Amino acid sequence: MAGNLEDKIKDMTNTELLDYLHSVPGHHSDYSSLYTYLVKHAPMNDYYKLLFKDFDLKHKSFLDLGPGVGWSLDVARELGARTTFVDRDIFITKYCENKGHKGIHLDFFQLPIKNIGRYDLILSRGSFNVDMMNRTNFPIHQLIGWMILTARNIIVIPTWDKGELVEGEDYTCVGEHFENYLNSEVHWAFVNSGFSLRIIEGINDHLRFPITYEYTT
Ligand SMILES: C[S@@+](CC[C@H](N)C(=O)[O-])C[C@H]1O[C@@H](n2cnc3c(N)ncnc32)[C@H](O)[C@@H]1O
Repeated sequence: MAGNLEDKIKDMTNTELLDYLHSVPGHHSDYSSLYTYLVKHAPMNDYYKLLFKDFDLKHKSFLDLGPGVGWSLDVARELGARTTFVDRDIFITKYCENKGHKGIHLDFFQLPIKNIGRYDLILSRGSFNVDMMNRTNFPIHQLIGWMILTARNIIVIPTWDKGELVEGEDYTCVGEHFENYLNSEVHWAFVNSGFSLRIIEGINDHLRFPITYEYTT
């Protein structure tokens, strides 16, 4: 499917891409999160300005692992960075490339990941699901090792599985879920690999994005 679709969307503008996704039953949502992001999520430019406030991105290289609609990329570029992203979703890839960001089409859960060069800062927000990685015994050390080879600074803000509704949200990394998170292999892999932990006001919320992991070489 991806091959034919890739061909179909290759010359589309972002408006045409959204119109196309809108016209398809299901909006390709089983494969791509682009439609949901465009239709349901508010822009996050202020969020990324806050996240990057301690980084000087001028003339630096920035890589987002799984950028969604690319707000982090837009903000990093405004701050002077050269912007690249990795994604396996052809709609996300096309959308962010149309905005002028450099795309690398690969699946970062297919290990080993090839060498894609070295960057000043890597960000992963919402693209690693700690619960899912724990459940599937994902070889997180390999992914962490690849990130450390790939960037001087790393920020990872993982998410957690959807569960019962808490405070009207369907992500519930509270109570026993948060305890499980803190005891999990994936959490300890970050800690033991030298990542520091922060809970940043305005960046982490206790339900869905409980912890920011940061690494500097
Ligand atoms: C939940 S969205 C998060 C988007 C954005 N980072 C944010 O926080 O708003 C997950 C992103 O990671 C990408 N992604 C998820 N798993 C991936 C994988 N195994 N390889 C490459 N990209 C992946 C998705 O296509 C999407 O762009």
